[in-house]
Amino acid sequence: MERWNLADEKCYTMPSVLHAVALDTNRRAYARKTVKMTTPDNQENSRFSDVRRAARLSVAPMMDWTDRHCRYLHRLLSHQALLYTEMVTSPALVRGGALHLLDHSPEEHPVALQLGGSDPQELGAAAKIGAQAGYDEINLNCGCPSDRVQSGAFGAILMQSPDLVADCVAAMRAEVAVEVTVKCRIGVDEQEPRDILPVFLEKIQAVGCQRVTIHARKAWLKGLSPKENRDIPPLDYALVHEMKTAFPDLHISINGGIATLDAARAQLDQGLDGVMVGRAAYHQPSDILSEADAVIFGSGVPRNPFEVVEQMLPYIERELSKGARLHQISRHMLGLFAGRPGARAWRRMLSEGANRPSAGPDLVQQALAQVTRQAIAV
Ligand SMILES: Cc1cc2nc3c(=O)[nH]c(=O)nc-3n(C[C@H](O)[C@H](O)[C@H](O)COP(=O)(O)O)c2cc1C
Repeated sequence: MERWNLADEKCYTMPSVLHAVALDTNRRAYARKTVKMTTPDNQENSRFSDVRRAARLSVAPMMDWTDRHCRYLHRLLSHQALLYTEMVTSPALVRGGALHLLDHSPEEHPVALQLGGSDPQELGAAAKIGAQAGYDEINLNCGCPSDRVQSGAFGAILMQSPDLVADCVAAMRAEVAVEVTVKCRIGVDEQEPRDILPVFLEKIQAVGCQRVTIHARKAWLKGLSPKENRDIPPLDYALVHEMKTAFPDLHISINGGIATLDAARAQLDQGLDGVMVGRAAYHQPSDILSEADAVIFGSGVPRNPFEVVEQMLPYIERELSKGARLHQISRHMLGLFAGRPGARAWRRMLSEGANRPSAGPDLVQQALAQVTRQAIAV
């Protein structure tokens, strides 16, 4: 069975017109929005509403995964979903001057910067740097349970300090015109989520946070690794829905264990404002993102992963010419054909060959030719 329209394939030396038009439209749309950043409140609100609309479906912040190459790929698959950076710590930006962590392509918009930290003043300064770098939203991480993050007293441990989180949000909001949002858990350790989550949300809403993403499980700060903390504590979707009922004016996105576009759609149909997808979007980006514009946002055509690979080729060439290595980009593309004929050959060719110093777009084209042959043969 042929699952995609192979007739759409083109040689990458003849860049897709569709691609150029889409990216150009994207650039112009966001250039218009950038102007809005400096204009009065009502226009600022309309800018919020654009990003909020995008937040109906977002790709989660994931350290080491959602770097700028990954986000570029995801943007080709969905022109409308909201993309998050990996977490960047406020000390790294403010004290360490690690501004390269903010690098991103204009095509990535709408794109949100996630910050980690717990010092209000420093987070305010980091948020300002992020907004000046052009991010459409600044998000505060209150969900990451790793030891390194605990020792810096930020991430999920902040669920125990809602007043401090409110101070952080207020300090960040004071510095930026873009929306400041929070990503949190339902609680940590022995906390009772039904008691503490409403208090947490009330406090951040009181200082002007209007949008939150809730990872619908607790984090255990001792005894579970970050990876286990993404699987072992049970999911409580019902609690997130209860929060939407209790806080009707708060834009609430649900996160955790949502593995298909249908499941995401179902959450929206049940009254939530947004759905954030993490691992499934990374491992099966075509399944989650290629029909997202049509299914979640009601406009746009399904993207053909063959065409998306072709559209990646000029980007790869450009990045290699600036010193990147192929595997830094192609590692995010391994799942593009997951579950489809040729997926294994695609993964194998890219993962075996992309580390070679000379590897370039031609390797990707060869791998694509393999998938094409196998897709036609099925
Ligand atoms: C490799 C990896 C790195 C992650 N890094 C972050 C991070 O930097 N910030 C954050 O808030 N969450 C991080 N997360 C958690 C995800 O954002 C998300 O909350 C979690 O994976 C649950 O969603 P899912 O079941 O859709 O994957 C990470 C998850 C993974 C798999």
